[in-house]
Amino acid sequence: MGAYKNRIIGSGEESLDNILFNPRNWRIHPLSQQDALKGVLEEVGWVQQVIINKRTGNLIDGHLRCQLAAREGNKTIPVLYVDIDEAEEELVLATLDPIGAMAATDKQKLDELFAGIESENENVRKMMDDIAAKEKLAYGENSVGDCERGGLNERFIIPPFSIFDTRQGYWQERKQAWLSLGIESDEGRDAYAMGDAGGFKGSTQARPTNITNGLKPSMFDPVLCEVLYRWFCPAGGLVINPTAGESVYGLVASYLGYRYKGVELREEQVQANRKQNTEMGLSAEWILGDGQDVYDLVGEDADFIMCCPPYVDLEVYSNDPRDLSTMEYEEFLTVYRNIIVESVRRLKDNRFAAFVVGDVRDSKGNYRNFVSETIGAFIDAGCSLYNEGVLLNRTGTIAMQVSHNFPIGRKFGKMHQNVLVFLKGDWREAVKACGDVEVSFPNE
Ligand SMILES: C[S@@+](CC[C@H](N)C(=O)[O-])C[C@H]1O[C@@H](n2cnc3c(N)ncnc32)[C@H](O)[C@@H]1O
Repeated sequence: MGAYKNRIIGSGEESLDNILFNPRNWRIHPLSQQDALKGVLEEVGWVQQVIINKRTGNLIDGHLRCQLAAREGNKTIPVLYVDIDEAEEELVLATLDPIGAMAATDKQKLDELFAGIESENENVRKMMDDIAAKEKLAYGENSVGDCERGGLNERFIIPPFSIFDTRQGYWQERKQAWLSLGIESDEGRDAYAMGDAGGFKGSTQARPTNITNGLKPSMFDPVLCEVLYRWFCPAGGLVINPTAGESVYGLVASYLGYRYKGVELREEQVQANRKQNTEMGLSAEWILGDGQDVYDLVGEDADFIMCCPPYVDLEVYSNDPRDLSTMEYEEFLTVYRNIIVESVRRLKDNRFAAFVVGDVRDSKGNYRNFVSETIGAFIDAGCSLYNEGVLLNRTGTIAMQVSHNFPIGRKFGKMHQNVLVFLKGDWREAVKACGDVEVSFPNE
């Protein structure tokens, strides 16, 4: 077989109005491919002509490029002209792309190539992520694909990064799996108010039951519970929670084979949690009492402290004077600090503790620095701040809120909470006690 025939007879710019789409074109262009091409054309421009068969006038290659160019307002397009008969045109139309797709990938070379590409173009980045995911490359850092690709999710349930991104598909899937187990964490939380809106704060007036202000409390995320237990609590260990609140902390712990003792001030919350626990055949424990008495109420040393305390008076849970959410800030801090001291006293040496907190504004609209107060209280109680992360909540209605409020008050739309992990004692011993990270889902 001698030299291949050169069927190319010329090139030039062709008006898009003159382009004749090939009636036999079999390619369909999904949105992701359109976006990818658009991204590269925006980033670089034309580097390849479309192919037109002068003999039939038909476009042989470049249908998507022509569509995109027309859609983006281009008038002409670079063209390569070939001169082939109809049968040859059909052969080229049928095989040009599939032959290209038959190429295999030298992953290392592609990885190096990807690693060197800096593009701010959203479409280009998305395309590179998709390609890297498809080719299982080690490309990129923090990208979702990387977490799945690098097996971080398989090894740690979610990537142990300082950003807990609840908006990710893998996170929402896992959350649905927990919810499908029937956890109804807002049971026992419906008779309270937001902040002073409920007018309970400090009032001695009897609190009417079943009064709701229509505000549905946000459930603590079971996936966050799961990973904090799996990462920082020895298997089968005892988890304590000095201001227990809703059931999710205990139900997740029990499902995962941990023991759980939560101290909760409100009778109805304790009853609601116990009811669910029994219905689900689990063994978590809730103790009615004040978190300041956690040491005596729990009565044995714990392996992990898990808590999401009242965010000062963001939500007022009762009119019980011992209730943190009813207190003036100074008194709140004193009691809160004491609850932390007593909880840490109940924690075994060489163990971890996790508090999920979010800063809250005072009546003047300024943040109270509640997160730092929490860190300060733990350090004063003899612990060290070992990890600090951010829990990214789904945006929900924030965009609407800020579009109205930001021009007025220049306040950020709050869509995160702080995940603080503290260490009591030696990290090596603490990690050793935790052992390998178990990732299996209950009943899996
Ligand atoms: C778990 S915490 C807050 C949860 C989360 N930050 C939120 O905003 O949804 C809420 C619970 O703390 C309880 N609580 C308040 N003060 C307490 C105290 N001194 N001892 C024990 N529980 C307390 C309330 O009764 C309520 O059920």
